[in-house]
Amino acid sequence: MIIETVFSTINEMGTPNFAPMGIEWNGDVVFVRPFRDTQTCRNLYTGGYGVASFSDNVLAYVQCCLYGEVLEHFPASSIPGVVMKEACTWLELAVTSQGGDDRRAEFQCRVLYKGRHREFLGFCRASNSVIEAAIMATRLDFLDPKKVVEHLNHYMKIVDKTGDEKDKQAIHLVREYIRKREAL
Ligand SMILES: Cc1cc2nc3c(=O)[nH]c(=O)nc-3n(C[C@H](O)[C@H](O)[C@H](O)COP(=O)(O)O)c2cc1C
Repeated sequence: MIIETVFSTINEMGTPNFAPMGIEWNGDVVFVRPFRDTQTCRNLYTGGYGVASFSDNVLAYVQCCLYGEVLEHFPASSIPGVVMKEACTWLELAVTSQGGDDRRAEFQCRVLYKGRHREFLGFCRASNSVIEAAIMATRLDFLDPKKVVEHLNHYMKIVDKTGDEKDKQAIHLVREYIRKREAL
């Protein structure tokens, strides 16, 4: 099972980077599979540490994924790294081995620390739709533009019916991103 997280790493200068990444988590072992052209991948190679944050703030997912925002954060307690300030819970990770293929790396990590601020209540339909829309927006190069519009309209309807203001702001940002890329 792949669990979506906000993944943070730092570069050699200590500059933090945040990006949504799916992880596979089994006890003290986590696998993360960033594409090789991502900053997350470069930072995991050079630094060897990362933090997987579990958050119900889907606006933050969109902001860091599509707009490169450095989210509010605080220092991790067991590794050189940072934790998303709004994380409900988080895992501080050290890379133990590396693999993957030409396009996508695979980092096996060990959990060094589990942090907790509050309960993660889960995603509603609107937040799921924002997450799906954001993933779609990262794949525009491979997707049929007609299908993208169809799916986006579907996700927007769900957010409109069931979402709160944050979900609406988030889907609007995804739409703007797609509009600029595909001239909708
Ligand atoms: C929910 C979600 C999950 C994602 N999971 C991955 C992943 O597992 N691997 C990956 O390379 N990109 C994944 N992405 C896309 C990256 O977050 C996106 O390419 C991001 O811009 C990479 O940022 P970076 O270059 O700062 O690391 C995901 C996006 C979303 C919205």
